[in-house]
Amino acid sequence: MPNIGYLNGQFMPLAQMQVSVEDRGYQFGDGVYEVIRTYQGVPFRMEEHLERLARSAHEIKISLPLTRQEWGMAIQDGIQRSGYKNCKVYIQVTRGAAPREHLFAASLAPTVVMTIREMSELDPRFYTQGVRAIMLPDIRWGRCDIKSLNLLPNVLAKQKAAEAGAFEAIFVRDRVVTEGASSNVMIVKDRKIWTPELNEHVLPGVTLKYVMCLARENGYDVQERRIFSEELGEADEIFLVGTTIHVLSVTQIDTISVGNGLPGPITQALMSQFAEAVEKSSAISIN
Ligand code: PDD
Repeated sequence: MPNIGYLNGQFMPLAQMQVSVEDRGYQFGDGVYEVIRTYQGVPFRMEEHLERLARSAHEIKISLPLTRQEWGMAIQDGIQRSGYKNCKVYIQVTRGAAPREHLFAASLAPTVVMTIREMSELDPRFYTQGVRAIMLPDIRWGRCDIKSLNLLPNVLAKQKAAEAGAFEAIFVRDRVVTEGASSNVMIVKDRKIWTPELNEHVLPGVTLKYVMCLARENGYDVQERRIFSEELGEADEIFLVGTTIHVLSVTQIDTISVGNGLPGPITQALMSQFAEAVEKSSAISIN
């Protein structure tokens, strides 16, 4: 079956989807997006993703052409049509197409795109052995709380990380850790879990919020606070969280081993609690 997508209200094979070269998403990165994954055909935390999409769009003055209910229906429909149990749903809304000009008219019709692809999971060894991360200066704009299409610094950082044999780049702004190029960061020190404070330099991750709740339910002390870059090298454990990676241990930061160089006990506990919670939530939604 070919991969399918959705363009302005219609499902079609991905290969047939076409948007204008004058689309502002293409010319200015003028748009917002979300990535939702499914477990056993059930979208995980869909409401939270749709809530964030609405906020991102509002912040850049795009009015979403679909209601919350319509989004939900389109996503469910797309997942069913795709035939994939575990898939990655990518949603993108741009301001629309118009002759290239920085100023925009409020009357432009946004372009809505959704693609549904089978989820390709990470190498299982990443979870058992942990991954390497490098620290890079956070050169992104001042509103990283908006999930905008402007990902060039993230793309370059991720590429640099891969060239250095690392999985992720962790951004540091004025000595303060913000987040990964495509993930949020959490650290463990003396059995306390910390994550960088959620401000305009950090995306409020759906997975992050979920993992924070899960950790609290399991009796851990979890706090948001400013984390300085030098604290990463001194942490007992570091882990990344995000839609496509779940909970992933970082066992080396730059050239420094984290803890004993293996995924730590709290990260491992959260990894299994996350897996259990996901299994339960998809089972509940199916029944
Ligand atoms: N990105 N921070 C950044 C910069 C991200 O790009 C992402 C996810 C996250 C984690 O957010 P969430 O838990 O809501 O997925 C944090 C997606 C997966 C992407 O760009 O592909």
